[in-house]
Amino acid sequence: MLVHAIPTNAAYEFACDVRHGLARPRQKELPSKYLYDDVGSALFEVISRLPEYGLTRADERLLRRYSHEIVDRLTGPVAVTELGSGSGRKTRWLLEALCRRQRTSYYPIEISRSALAMCERELKDIDCVSILGFESEYLDGLLEVAAYRKRGQRLLVLFLGSTIGNFDRPAGVKFLAEVRRILDPGDSLLLGTDLEKPYSQLLSAYDDELGVTAAFNLNLLSRINRELDADFDLSQFVHVARINHGARSVEMHLRSKRRQVVAIPVAEVTVEFLEGETIWTESSHKYSVGEVSEMARDAGYRCTAQWIDKEWPFAENLLVAE
Ligand SMILES: C[S@@+](CC[C@H](N)C(=O)[O-])C[C@H]1O[C@@H](n2cnc3c(N)ncnc32)[C@H](O)[C@@H]1O
Repeated sequence: MLVHAIPTNAAYEFACDVRHGLARPRQKELPSKYLYDDVGSALFEVISRLPEYGLTRADERLLRRYSHEIVDRLTGPVAVTELGSGSGRKTRWLLEALCRRQRTSYYPIEISRSALAMCERELKDIDCVSILGFESEYLDGLLEVAAYRKRGQRLLVLFLGSTIGNFDRPAGVKFLAEVRRILDPGDSLLLGTDLEKPYSQLLSAYDDELGVTAAFNLNLLSRINRELDADFDLSQFVHVARINHGARSVEMHLRSKRRQVVAIPVAEVTVEFLEGETIWTESSHKYSVGEVSEMARDAGYRCTAQWIDKEWPFAENLLVAE
């Protein structure tokens, strides 16, 4: 696969985000995108196969079952792009369904280089698909992809795995609207959304028995040690998953076991942690079916179809840009 890396000052931005996030007065916080370095992307692949984490299997069941129906709803020649493709495993079903009627260009957009490499290994055997990966943030990549669009070609944007849930609700609508501004009327967005379910089920999905999600979360501190020369002692932090009832989300935190001070030289900061204090690293918001159509409308789309998995409540939503 060809990979187009959009130049950024990623190391500098990481240091700034760590410095600002850990200086927040009430709640220390780090952006969840930093969970995905090489180690984090590999651990996420394992999480997606854990018995407790039914989300990826539900998403894949829907795509396997309904890809032909989804593709039949798209008109004209279509190019496919995917925001945060990860390994691209589930995307195979859609690409193969599209191949019945056309050769297809597929543009995965990923912040994680190793996820892009996995995606190529996973999908390169599909004959009628050409892959060009973009190593970049979602919107920077999408702007580039839109510039590759051929005359008369429609775009199908995939945003699977309920990654939208990492944004809080207003930020999620704002993000969908930003995507919409890059699209043309008639382009489509296939949005995967995890639906509300019992709290006990959600808590074990984000705090599995084997401790893979804990390792995924703690790897963020290892990453700061590796890349910013910090001295986090991982044995002095624990992974915590908790429900935020007001936000209807599951939050991941890293809780300090004791009072401690951590130096992060490349970010030019020393951070004090109180016993029990946490760093908030990720949120996964859960949705009702009706709410997704409303979010779509507020962001400039029409939700034209929804497919719902009954085994693990999850919805695949086809949104058309108005
Ligand atoms: C929750 S995983 C989902 C992966 C895959 N779509 C799935 O459904 O299994 C989110 C993916 O988005 C990527 N990602 C996170 N933030 C990103 C950003 N701001 N720009 C581009 N990619 C991002 C991560 O590297 C990761 O592979």
